[in-house]
Amino acid sequence: MDESIDEVREKKRDAERGGGEDRIEKQHEKGKLTARERVEYFLDDGTFEEFDQLKTHRCTNFDMDDDQPYGDGVVTGYGEVDGRTVFVFAHDFTVFGGSLGEAFAEKVCKVMDRAIETGAPIIGLNDSAGARIQEGIDSLAGYADIFHRNQKASGVVPQISAIMGPCAGGAVYSPAITDFIYMVQDTSHMFITGPDVIETVTGEEVGFEELGGASTHTGESGVAHFSAADEKDALDDIRYLLSYLPSNNVEDPPRVEPWDDPERRDEELEEIVPDQPRKPYDIVDVIDRIVDEGSFLEVAESYARNLVTGFGRLDGRSVGVVANQPRVNAGTLDIDASLKGGRFVRFCDAFNIPIVTFVDVPGFMPGTDQEHNGIIKHGAKLLYAFSEATVPLLTVITRKAYGGAYDVMASKHLEADVNYAWPTAEIAVMGPKGAVNVLYRDELADADDVEARREQLIDEYRDTFANPFSAAERGFIDDVLEPTETRPRLIHDLEMLESKRKDHPDKKHGNIPL
Ligand code: COA
Repeated sequence: MDESIDEVREKKRDAERGGGEDRIEKQHEKGKLTARERVEYFLDDGTFEEFDQLKTHRCTNFDMDDDQPYGDGVVTGYGEVDGRTVFVFAHDFTVFGGSLGEAFAEKVCKVMDRAIETGAPIIGLNDSAGARIQEGIDSLAGYADIFHRNQKASGVVPQISAIMGPCAGGAVYSPAITDFIYMVQDTSHMFITGPDVIETVTGEEVGFEELGGASTHTGESGVAHFSAADEKDALDDIRYLLSYLPSNNVEDPPRVEPWDDPERRDEELEEIVPDQPRKPYDIVDVIDRIVDEGSFLEVAESYARNLVTGFGRLDGRSVGVVANQPRVNAGTLDIDASLKGGRFVRFCDAFNIPIVTFVDVPGFMPGTDQEHNGIIKHGAKLLYAFSEATVPLLTVITRKAYGGAYDVMASKHLEADVNYAWPTAEIAVMGPKGAVNVLYRDELADADDVEARREQLIDEYRDTFANPFSAAERGFIDDVLEPTETRPRLIHDLEMLESKRKDHPDKKHGNIPL
C-alpha cells in the first residue's frame, strides 16, 4: 500500500511541475504566474479540487509518445469564490506552450459540462499557443467541442475569460462567446492572425500590442471588457465581478448586507443636470450618487464611452445600469454603443439582474459612416434587447429623450416596469432647433429677422414638447420625480418588483438582427 501511495504522490508531484523548472522560470521572467499559481491565487484558500491531473495525450505523431506530461497542459477543477462554487480551467504555457490537443480539450469540456449541470460559473484562464500542431484535426475538433459548450453554457451560467498570454487564431472564439473578457496589460494578446501573417497577406505592418493588446481590445474593438495592470489584479477583479452575479440563470443574484441608507437623498443631484440643454455633465456622477455608495462597477469603460454600462447595488441588491453619457458625443447612440448596450442588457436579462436605465439621448448618431456601417441593424439590437428583457426594468429620463432613441431606451412602450422623468426632461420627436427648421421652413425663409423668429419658435416648441408633462399626462412615465427622490423610489420599486414573473410566448428563439 505504501508503495502505491508513494507512486500516486510521485505522479502528482510530476504533474505539479508542469513543463519543468526552466520553463516555469521563463514564465515568471515574463511577469506571468503559472497555471497552478493562478488557480490557487484566484480561489478561496484551500478550496481547489483538481480533475484529471494525471491525464495524458495519446498522440504518437512526431515522437509525441516520448513526451506525455501529466495534465497535458491545462489545470482543471472546481473551488470556491467567497464560498460559492466555480469551475476553472487554466492553460499551462509551460507544457507545449499551453497548446490545445485532444486530451486537453476533453479536460476543459469535462469542467464545462459539470458547471452547466450544477449551475456554477466557468472561469477560463487563457495562456496558450493555440491548436497543438502535432495533433492536427484532433485539436481542431477539441476547439469545436469547447466552442459548442460555450454556446450551451451561454445564458445558463456566467462565463468569464481572463487572457494572460497569447490567445490567437481559432482559440479566440471560446473567450469571444463568454460573457466578460479580462486582459492583462502588456502580457496578453488576442488576434485571429498575427503580425507576420498580416504582413505576408496584406503588406500591413503592425506590432502585437497595437494589433491585439489590452488597450486595443478594451478601447478600439470592444472585444474585451476589462484590462488589469497585472495578473493578480485581473484575478481580484474577476472575484469582485462575481459578487454581483448569480451562479446560474435560475438563481437570483446574491444580496449583500446593505451599508447605505435606502432613504438617502443626495441634494447635489438637483444641481448636476445643467439648465442649458446642450451643456454636458457626467452621468457617472449621477449613477454614483443614486446607487449604494461606492458600488458602481463600470463594464467596458473604455469602449463606446457615449453609453455607460455597469453593475451597482441598490440597498444591497445587484442591478445592471445602462446610461447615455452626455459628456461623450452628447450621449448619442451609435453602432458601438448599441452593441455594447445590447449585449449588456441581454446578460442582465439572462441572469435575473434588474436593469436601471438613465436616459439623456439626443438621438442616433447621424452620418454616412454610421448609415453605411449598419446603424439600422445595430441600433435594432439594443431595441431588441430591451424589448425582450423580462427582468425588472426601471427607467429615469434625466434630460433629453428624443425620437426613436426615446423608444429604445427602456421606454414604457417596451414594457418597462417603472418609468420616471426628472423635471429637466425633454421628451419629444426631435430637438427644438431641428423641429422648428422642419416645421417652419417656409416661414423662416420669408422672415425679416430669421434668427429672432427662430428663437421665438424654439421657445414655443420647448414650452409645448420639451418637458416631461405630455408623457406624464399619457402615463408613458409613471411620475415626474425630483432628482433627490430617485434613490429611495428605485429601491422601493425594486422591492415591489422582486416577485415579477413574465414569460415570452413559446418559440425556438428570436431572430435578433445580427
Ligand atoms: N503546438 C505545439 N507546440 C507549440 C505550439 C503549437 N501550436 N506553439 C508553441 N509550441 C511550443 C513550442 O514548441 C515551445 O516548446 P518548448 O518549450 O518545448 O521549446 C513552447 O510551446 C513555447 O513556445 P515558444 O515559441 O518558445 O514561446 P514564445 O513565448 O516565444 O512564443 C507564441 C509564443 C504563441 C507566439 C509562439 O509559440 C507561436 O507563434 N506559436 C504558434 C501559434 C500558432 O500558430 N498556433 C496555431 C494557431 S490556432
